[in-house]
Amino acid sequence: MNKDAQKKAPFADALEEYCRQRMVPFHTPGHKLGAGAPVREQILFGKALRQDLGLMYALDDLFQPEGPLREAMELAADAYGAGRTFFSVNGTTACIEAMILAVCGPGDTVLIPREAHRSVLSGLILSGAVPAYMESRYAEREEVSLGPDPASLQAAIAAHKDARAVLFTYPTYDGLAGQLTEMVRIAHQYGLIVLVDEAHGAHLAFHEELPPDALACGADCVAQSTHKLTGSLTQTSMLHCRRGFPYTDRVAAAMALVQSTSPHYWFLASLDLARQQMALEGRQRETQALSLARQARKQLNALPGISCFGREMMRYEAVGNLDETKLTIDFSGLGLMGREAERLLRDARIEVELTAGHHVLALVTFGDSDKSIQALLDGCRKIAGMHQVVERKDTPEPPLPQPQVVMAPREAWYAEKETISRSLCAGRICAETITFYPPGIPVVAAGEVLTGDVLAYIDQKLAAGYVTNGAADSSLDTIQVVRKG
Ligand SMILES: Cc1ncc(COP(=O)(O)O)c(C=O)c1O
Repeated sequence: MNKDAQKKAPFADALEEYCRQRMVPFHTPGHKLGAGAPVREQILFGKALRQDLGLMYALDDLFQPEGPLREAMELAADAYGAGRTFFSVNGTTACIEAMILAVCGPGDTVLIPREAHRSVLSGLILSGAVPAYMESRYAEREEVSLGPDPASLQAAIAAHKDARAVLFTYPTYDGLAGQLTEMVRIAHQYGLIVLVDEAHGAHLAFHEELPPDALACGADCVAQSTHKLTGSLTQTSMLHCRRGFPYTDRVAAAMALVQSTSPHYWFLASLDLARQQMALEGRQRETQALSLARQARKQLNALPGISCFGREMMRYEAVGNLDETKLTIDFSGLGLMGREAERLLRDARIEVELTAGHHVLALVTFGDSDKSIQALLDGCRKIAGMHQVVERKDTPEPPLPQPQVVMAPREAWYAEKETISRSLCAGRICAETITFYPPGIPVVAAGEVLTGDVLAYIDQKLAAGYVTNGAADSSLDTIQVVRKG
């Protein structure tokens, strides 16, 4: 990385300079720099409306960059060690759709983890590609999915010798980083293109005590939510292609396909500034985030009935490393579900990222301070004080049924559907995705057969009181299926 060049923020500079010129606007947006904006919008956004600009050719074009935006994306590629980097104003969702569209066509097989983000399914629907699943490992004690390991990748490759690409989620939401270098090696050995959903990893490249980033592990194309764990505005992401990736131009074309033609310039400027910040101060800032998270983890583990896993997760074969800035806080020792703990924390004015099983997930970033960490600890301490410690009962997860994919997601998307009683579903093709948390891994997805095993799994989960996520009828009394031809 060229540290001197990284001091620049060419697009943010250009935007600032343009705003200084106070041009009289005869262009979109219609509110004309705030003058015509609704009063409440003016109160809410204030002077910022003067910089509400997009689609100004004076400043550069996201899809044909030739000026400061091009330079900003080149600097991002240099900072991340990519051959070429694209900015996204539609999150990692657009990046994932674009990378699948760029390398897969109708009927191509893509190996994916069963719990892939919904944008992967969107990419499959858009491209017509067909998923084949790598089995994901699951940690019963911690109630988190670990993703696939090299053995599950090998098994998927053996079962789908014609697969064109493989897509990994790395790291998981909980910060668990798979054996990516090894899995990339295996995938490349079989000629697969390696795509990585690194939504939760935009900070990894900047600290050696974080898991290695996906490009460093050898991935071909990597989608990152810059907004999730570094400093850019919500909705902004980057898509990186490795140096020499032969589909880079297709990726560029696909990024234009899935994004607005009026990208907001705040978004683009914030990506430029977030990259500059990470390139110049990333290591020091991540040192701070790691130190806060480590202190918090230690203190959480000292609270009665509360636990927060750490590097011991690497005892699982599927886990190669851990992003310690993620705090998965388990309340099972107090007999609480994550949802209840989340509500109690909210009462203490603490908002966590998500909840599943008996835990909540709290993200620590360089935006945190001793004060914010203290507030989290106080909230947890209060919950511990309100509840008796109970003996933890493990509820073993039933094994997930083998998926039987009979229809491409695109075909299932266009197929006529009907909603029928669950008792009549055996053998029908499912038209929706049904997931229980835990394990957070779909039991069945659109285009797959509702086999006896799938229905038995659903019965078992419902009997145990679990609520599904993703289905139109959350009681699952009825299920959407593909109408018979
Ligand atoms: C694993 C994963 N991939 C992709 C996405 C989509 O990212 P974005 O919100 O930036 O579109 C998310 C969002 O939560 C995610 O968790």
